[in-house]
Amino acid sequence: MQDFLTYLEKVLVVKDAIKEVFLLPNVLVIHGPNLNMLGQREKRIYGTTTLPELNNMLMAAATALQWDVSIVQSNSEGDIVTAIHEACGHYECIIINPAAYTHYSIAIRDAIAACSVPTIEVHLSNIYQREEFRHKSVIAPVSVGQISGFGPYGYVLALHAAANLIGTSPAIQS
Ligand code: DQA
Repeated sequence: MQDFLTYLEKVLVVKDAIKEVFLLPNVLVIHGPNLNMLGQREKRIYGTTTLPELNNMLMAAATALQWDVSIVQSNSEGDIVTAIHEACGHYECIIINPAAYTHYSIAIRDAIAACSVPTIEVHLSNIYQREEFRHKSVIAPVSVGQISGFGPYGYVLALHAAANLIGTSPAIQS
């Protein structure tokens, strides 16, 4: 826990410095519990792409859009709440896959509501095609929108949605 927070604090200091010099819009991507197991975990549902591969895809998309991206993964609800608090005032947007917490974490829902950073919810699988307990998201009502069912590409879609939202996408500028 302490290691995670120290890491996040360091990331924030570096990100603020980068933002000051290059003025790039930035996004914080939060991966929730068990997403570190991608590539090994229920491959039929989540596919074979690992989390580092997914993150590389995301970073390439961010570079193409000229956005700066920070990525964290945690299996702990408290760490995710703290990451959202610390994003306030530092990021233009949050992209979050709260994983199982999607369906019941009022703490994560309240953290998003407390922080004025627009938040986009992402799921690799289509949660509405799965078990009934996955059909409810307590995060959706406090998110700008939800992307579900497109696998890792859903994160790239979310990044484009963020750029469109903040007004930095090429489509908006031209
Ligand atoms: C998930 C869907 C959740 O229901 C599940 O608990 C996850 C992953 C997805 O990305 O499809 O861990 O958020």
